Amino acid sequence: MGVGLLVSVEPDTITGKDIKGLTLEEVALFENCLVQATPENLQSRLAFLRTHFTTLSIYIDVRQLKAYGDVIEVLNAGASKIFVTSEQLKALAQEDTIAPSRLVLTISPLNPSTDIAKLKSFLEENPKWKTAEWAFDGDKGNAYVDRVLQELDNYPPHADQTLYVSTTSESAGQDLLAQYPGNALIVSSERLTLDTTKKGHEDLIQVTDLFLAGSTSDRKTGLYTTSVVDERGVALGLVYSSKESILEALKTKTGVYQSRKRGLWHKGASSGDTQELISMSFDCDKDCLLFRVRQKGRGFCHLATMSCWGPTSGLSRLQQTLRSRKQDAPPGSYTARLFNDPKLLGAKIKEEADELCEATTKEDIASEAADLLYFALARCIAADVTLEDIEKNLDLKSLKVKRRKGDAKPQYVNGDQKTPQTNGINGTAASSKPTEEEVKEAASIPKDSTDPAGTDDNGRIQLKRYSTSQAFSDDILKSALQRPSQRSTEKIMNLVNPIIEDVRTKGDSAVLKYTHKFEKATSLKSPVLKAPFPKSLMQLPPETIEAINISYDNILKFHSAQKETAPLVVQTMPGVTCSRFSRPIEKVGLYIPGGTAVLPSTALMLGVPAMAAGCKNIVLASPPRSDGTITPEIVYIADKIGAEAIVLAGGAQAVAAMAYGTESITKVDKILGPGNQFVTAAKMLVSNDTTASVSIDMPAGPSEVLVIADETSQPAFVASDLLSQAEHGTDSQVVLIAIALSEAQLQAIEDEVHRQAHALPRVDIVRGAIEHSVTISVPTLAEALKWSNYYAPEHLILQIADPKSCLPDIHNAGSVFLGKWTPESVGDYSAGVNHSLPTYGYARQYSGVNLASFMKHITSSEVSEEGVNSVGKAVVELARVEGLEAHKRAMEVRMEVLGLKERTFLSEEKAVTALKDIRGDAVDGDSEKVNGTV
Ligand SMILES: *[C@@H]1O[C@H](CO)[C@@H](O)[C@H](O)[C@H]1NC(C)=O
Ligand SMILES: *[C@@H]1O[C@H](CO)[C@@H](O)[C@H](O)[C@H]1NC(C)=O
Ligand SMILES: *[C@@H]1O[C@H](CO)[C@@H](O)[C@H](O)[C@H]1NC(C)=O
Repeated sequence: MGVGLLVSVEPDTITGKDIKGLTLEEVALFENCLVQATPENLQSRLAFLRTHFTTLSIYIDVRQLKAYGDVIEVLNAGASKIFVTSEQLKALAQEDTIAPSRLVLTISPLNPSTDIAKLKSFLEENPKWKTAEWAFDGDKGNAYVDRVLQELDNYPPHADQTLYVSTTSESAGQDLLAQYPGNALIVSSERLTLDTTKKGHEDLIQVTDLFLAGSTSDRKTGLYTTSVVDERGVALGLVYSSKESILEALKTKTGVYQSRKRGLWHKGASSGDTQELISMSFDCDKDCLLFRVRQKGRGFCHLATMSCWGPTSGLSRLQQTLRSRKQDAPPGSYTARLFNDPKLLGAKIKEEADELCEATTKEDIASEAADLLYFALARCIAADVTLEDIEKNLDLKSLKVKRRKGDAKPQYVNGDQKTPQTNGINGTAASSKPTEEEVKEAASIPKDSTDPAGTDDNGRIQLKRYSTSQAFSDDILKSALQRPSQRSTEKIMNLVNPIIEDVRTKGDSAVLKYTHKFEKATSLKSPVLKAPFPKSLMQLPPETIEAINISYDNILKFHSAQKETAPLVVQTMPGVTCSRFSRPIEKVGLYIPGGTAVLPSTALMLGVPAMAAGCKNIVLASPPRSDGTITPEIVYIADKIGAEAIVLAGGAQAVAAMAYGTESITKVDKILGPGNQFVTAAKMLVSNDTTASVSIDMPAGPSEVLVIADETSQPAFVASDLLSQAEHGTDSQVVLIAIALSEAQLQAIEDEVHRQAHALPRVDIVRGAIEHSVTISVPTLAEALKWSNYYAPEHLILQIADPKSCLPDIHNAGSVFLGKWTPESVGDYSAGVNHSLPTYGYARQYSGVNLASFMKHITSSEVSEEGVNSVGKAVVELARVEGLEAHKRAMEVRMEVLGLKERTFLSEEKAVTALKDIRGDAVDGDSEKVNGTV
């Protein structure tokens, strides 16, 4: 772990021209190097080093970089640590994501005492940075280093604090190390040599001398205990090294050790199982060497196993197996097929990835992950990518300061091919096994505040941009407009089914059991609160009551107006009258979600129309709080709409209780209301059970809004409308369609989104929603409407010059909000329109909740004698075509009585009697005459 030697690599050494001293390959054997960065070379130099020397810890001296962004770039590009000035430290300290261990502090040689004073006061105010390491100019001697550390109150240095000290001579270097074994010597590559004779270069330093300085060898033999590991750090064996064998290993770049019996030992010289030396380093107290090698042949052990501790296992074994199969898999074997058929391999990787996502138990997850790793590694080995490459890549990623966004490409966001997006079950993409918490109502979990969800590379909360004028095909736009992925139907159904079954068979006790478990309302004794509701449970401030009253009145007005005052009556043919009249559904169950938001508005939007429709029994259901109570707003509304009871339960158990009824809960005919994926799944399941005889409203999904904005729109309004939907839940989605907006106008909206989002208490939910939200730029209103109709938004907001004129062209939307003065929230709460609207694209075939949702229609028909004449023949003919004789005769018998048809079914006598009965005595039995009357 001791850095020991930090070789400062000169530009010529990197470019490979005019190399003096060590080559870059030789420097890399010591695992660390230091490079000067200038604004011109920083990218290319680092990239070059990273690609060619994967095991190298790369220190970059960034003191010459003036631009702060460049410094961050260096960290992101994979610098292990950077050497910084005190000014740079102050700037970097603003960035929370930078760890002190990434910085090595330096002191300006021009003005050391002022610099030290400034640094000292900075460190006192920012103690976190005291753990950063220091670099010194070693030519000033140890006394200088001591003095500076004393002035900084950092004397003696901590045992684990590395001091980087530059040196130009071997003896000075050895002195520095003798005083602080924890020192790292910085030496220019041009001053180091592997040549022990130093012929003609007497001023050069023999590198093994410096490498070994300060180390402790075995007292008796003078040898170094040496642990040999493979490229991934897996132990292969234990051997000894001498100064001579180390030098030989460095020169030949192979595994060379010191055998106590045989002297210098070139590993594999006789067996052929040679080793390529990757690097060497000392452990923390410099008494044990570590050789990192690439083992060739059968392995390191004389027993021809990879390691002296037996054969390898796990990933190493798998890699070994795959490599040998790649070389000589029997033709036609499965592995050979995998290597030769990239399509098959790709399909297997996707299949296993899917199965891993679906797995729920620990064993299954381990097993599916193992399968996935098998095929993933096969893919890598086929391309000569090794586990070492993968692990180095992981390490490199861990060096990034700005973390990579974790979102999947659009095709995977909705990509569960087994689950068509029309199944209406909602959920989150990243979930594996739903936890109890998730089963709970409203499983919309806010993003952790350190999660970069919904932000761009600069940390701005921003919708992803697309434009129809750029090279985005319709397919790309369509995938960008896909709703966030929904959890697979089957899994949810499997969770929900037993709950429904439990409630169906055990009634109240099962409902109570789940409420105790999921809502933690363990004190609750009854699963239902019956009317009349005690006033003590609806204590509300007067302004809340007034607000509810206003909304209630408006919703009632609008919904009462939807009532049909008179039946519909139509004469379709002479004598054939059809009519239709409505009746309320007698018993309805209204589900009011709890969870992350209190939703009295949903109670109003469902309850008032039910009351206006005239439903006899209105049952509300809502998950209680952990003390067993319901929010007073909901109790107040339940009282106002004349609900007979509130079921104190959420989720599937509430739906089941209303669908089947229990000892204390009335069985309803229809269940309405929004809910999470469990509520939705339960609604689908009970409505599919004919024994339950219950219907449901439309399938519910996460909330969404689409805003169409043109140049007349107010950026602040547009942003606020987008955010008001985004705060519903992390699975919500918001879409902005911008008509011919300039870059400046788009920026203005994005600035507002970022600014307003940060001011919201629910910003972490907002970021989750924004993560899968998009802006699409289009040239014209027609194009905007095309995409809006394609998306079929739940809420459509038109912030455009003349919103009314485009209503005829809107074909799919739950509810439309016209003009800049109409925020979606007005519809959500108070305007009068319903906010229970079709989401997830169901606006293509469903309406939002309206009065009709609580009504059913009965039709009637009435046919006169004249009607028999006009419609009879058609009925008889169609019944004949369908072969339904009784249907046909039911018409014919009437026609025969009226003499409209030759008698085959009735005797003349019977027909006449029947007609007499119908018409009284106006008939005299003369069939000719009967005919004549018609
Ligand atoms: C609200 O409406 C109720 C009638 O339903 C009425 O008694 C009450 O006074 C109203 N309160 C306010 C503050 O408007
Ligand atoms: C609906 O019920 C039928 C018959 O009972 C069953 O086959 C089908 O799988 C059910 N569908 C769902 C979504 O449960
Ligand atoms: C809004 O939805 C609720 C139930 O979801 C419904 O009862 C009400 O009638 C709807 N209101 C309007 C104006 O459509």
